[in-house]
Amino acid sequence: MTRHFLRDDDISQGEQGDILDLAAAVKADRWARKPLAGPRTVAVIFDKSSTRTRVSFAVGIADLGGSPLIISTANSQLGGKESPSDTARVLERQVAAIVWRTYAQSGLEQMAAGTTVPVVNALSDDFHPCQLLADLLTIREHKGALAGLTVAFLGDGASNMAQSYLLAGATAGMHVRVAAPEEFSAADGVVADAVARAATTGGSISLSTDPDEAVAGADIVVTDTWVSMGKEEEKAHRVATFGGYQVTTELMALAKPDALFLHCLPADRGYEVAAEVIDGPQSVIWDEAENRLHAQKALLVWLLERAG
Ligand code: CP
Ligand code: NVA
Repeated sequence: MTRHFLRDDDISQGEQGDILDLAAAVKADRWARKPLAGPRTVAVIFDKSSTRTRVSFAVGIADLGGSPLIISTANSQLGGKESPSDTARVLERQVAAIVWRTYAQSGLEQMAAGTTVPVVNALSDDFHPCQLLADLLTIREHKGALAGLTVAFLGDGASNMAQSYLLAGATAGMHVRVAAPEEFSAADGVVADAVARAATTGGSISLSTDPDEAVAGADIVVTDTWVSMGKEEEKAHRVATFGGYQVTTELMALAKPDALFLHCLPADRGYEVAAEVIDGPQSVIWDEAENRLHAQKALLVWLLERAG
């Protein structure tokens, strides 16, 4: 059966570990794996802007012996004139996999339901699972085993990044704490799924409105933009509401002394994070950005060769 990667809990704890092991291997020997030799093409579709995702998928697909086909929805039939499922039926006759950055998660589900090739979520309003593979790879490189580590996410608890941290962190057996204003809490269904997953992995989920409490003793501190793509009109309200959630030097001092700081980027220095933190010694953002390449290559190898 075709496997897809639409949300972080589409893979088990063991499968997540296998993909991260594979990511470390492809990082160590960059051109060793060629599952796309031919070259076979992978369609990479964007409804929203991107730098890291576009570059890392294009480079990664080429590294794997394939050919990336970057499509902007603005000048394709998808996104108005043609449904995700009809688009998938057309693409599957010609490409090895479909990678899609979009708005509604339901579009990805329709795309996946209609096709025999793997569909990968390259960011939706609800989740950013490829980013989480890169984040977990980065954390593993710096901290070793993931299970048992405590990660604190601050800011927009309803964002794709916060919700992916809940699901991917729980899958990894981590203790995930999210501090967000009540108005910006993660969806109840996502929290329930994260709690259920954590119960099987030894992880835990804790939600609060208190950044100090979330960060106290944490191994990893994470934030993301307060104004995700598609939310630009809410900027003034969001900046006013999230003011107390900025990751500052004082806040980082509450975490473990060797705590890491992660941010998926792009960042707004002086809003969700102080420049001294994101550009300081605890920040691993450039490793994190590079690891998009290795993690996504591993995901594609796994989806194309191993997933049963
Ligand atoms: N982190 C991330 O997904 O960046 P881009 O929006 O540049 O792809
Ligand atoms: N939460 C951000 C992530 C950008 C990579 C957004 O959706 O805009």
